[in-house]
Amino acid sequence: MFKKIFMLFKIGRKLSTSGAISSFYQIYNPPIIIKILFFIVGFNFGNKKDNNNLSDGAKLCNALQEMGTTFIKLGQFLATRPDIIGENISKELEKLQDKLPPFDTNIAKKILKTELGKESFDQITNISEPIAAASIAQVHFANINVADQKKDVAIKILRPDVEKIFNEELDALMFLAYIVESLVKKTKRLKLVEIVQLLREITNVEMDFRFEAAAASELYENTKNDLGFDVPKIYWNQTSKKILCLDRIDGISIRDVENLKLQNIDTKKLSKNIIQHFLRHAIRDGFFHADMHQGNLFVSKSGAIVPVDFGIMGRLDKKNRKYLAEILYGFIKRDYQKVAEIHFIAGLVSKEFSKEEFAQSLRSIGEPIFGQAAKNISGGKLLNQLFKNTEKFNMQTQIQLLLLQKTMVVVEGVARKLDPDTNIWNVSKPIIEDWLKNVKDPINKISESIDEASEVLKRLPDLPIIMDKANDVMTLMAEGKFNPNTLAYRSLREEELKLELMRNKIFGGVLVLVIFILLVFK
Ligand SMILES: Nc1ncnc2c1ncn2[C@@H]1O[C@H](COP(=O)(O)OP(=O)(O)O)[C@@H](O)[C@H]1O
Ligand SMILES: [Mg+2]
Repeated sequence: MFKKIFMLFKIGRKLSTSGAISSFYQIYNPPIIIKILFFIVGFNFGNKKDNNNLSDGAKLCNALQEMGTTFIKLGQFLATRPDIIGENISKELEKLQDKLPPFDTNIAKKILKTELGKESFDQITNISEPIAAASIAQVHFANINVADQKKDVAIKILRPDVEKIFNEELDALMFLAYIVESLVKKTKRLKLVEIVQLLREITNVEMDFRFEAAAASELYENTKNDLGFDVPKIYWNQTSKKILCLDRIDGISIRDVENLKLQNIDTKKLSKNIIQHFLRHAIRDGFFHADMHQGNLFVSKSGAIVPVDFGIMGRLDKKNRKYLAEILYGFIKRDYQKVAEIHFIAGLVSKEFSKEEFAQSLRSIGEPIFGQAAKNISGGKLLNQLFKNTEKFNMQTQIQLLLLQKTMVVVEGVARKLDPDTNIWNVSKPIIEDWLKNVKDPINKISESIDEASEVLKRLPDLPIIMDKANDVMTLMAEGKFNPNTLAYRSLREEELKLELMRNKIFGGVLVLVIFILLVFK
């Protein structure tokens, strides 16, 4: 109990002293009592930090970064949810750097040995110093022996105790969310407790590398016949909850355009390929890498795109895939009537609006884009405008489609850096056309009940304990909220009961007293 309050105090103090709190005030104007509380905890005892020249957003990013894994993750999570915190802050939070100093290689070796057991550990040799370190994990290079063959691998190791610290800090945040929700009724609609629990569920899956390994092998299966896209192989004997072992990529970072050209790699073709592969994964397979920034992409000697980091993946069910293909195609063809129709058939727009009215608003999004030079056209931006527009027509955008839209903007950015003249429409069209030709069901026949998840789970390796959890989190990410039939929902209810019990145990007065004592003996 005291630990939680102490942690809360530290969090509040950090936010106030960094000045980051003022950016929160911009999106949400809290009651005066909360402002006073932050003013008190944020009071500077002579050690004023001079970061006044920084923007509110930069201050917020700095504060979160200094506060470590939990808050970096919180910031990254909120960055993907402009629907909760608004466009401006979400843009600022996108700049958050996921970096922390590495931990010692000897500790890494100890973790490897405990996690994998002696036999699998003994197959690993030449473990390098860390080559990359982020908030959740760090990566080493090594060799492993598989059937008397020496393989070059990369091994990603979870930071020691990161799960424990994360869950403890989230307990404190959860408590804060609960107190705020109970005291300030207006905040109920912000669903703070649900957001913290959502972050917990999602990050706990990210911290279980068996999921990442399963995602990599699913992407591998889906794309093994696609020329120009290679997914590294997973070594399951050297993989566990805390360890991910995969083929080491022998390639050039996609960021290094100069070097790619020196190696005679056709960067124009590469630019086209990255867009086409991404669309194929999203539309054909309904399963796509949702973290395709330059740092996670390499190019092999033969010019194939090789991704790493399968912690965040997106999933689209059949209905959404069809919806996506039809709207993109409709826009490419400038057939706004058709795009409007799809929205009405799929029941995405409230009946109180007229189809013509909706088509007109679609035209207002599409036409200005066609007036532009090819290099300014962006499918991702178009979707962004479309989703904003549909909100006006009472349509809720699915989180998975938002994830896709955001990734599309990133992928197009990567493509443009390879070739500034890429014409996104020309490149996208054949992929979408092909798929639409092959799909027989018209959109209105696609049943709501198609359950892609069960098909997907069949393909995962045999990991019975985590299956339910994976299924839950997939549903949860797809819907952006808890489904009352899932394990995750039950755990939210349990969490809420616990919080209620705890609140009943203490009185407001005690809380104030403790904060006061902590203040005096800081
Ligand atoms: N299989 C691999 N081969 C070569 N380098 C890798 C491999 N996997 C990861 N790396 C390097 O380690 C970095 C961090 O790995 P990544 O999986 O992206 O972790 P994080 O989730 O911390 O971003 C990558 O950006 C890349 O430079
Ligand atoms: Mg990465």
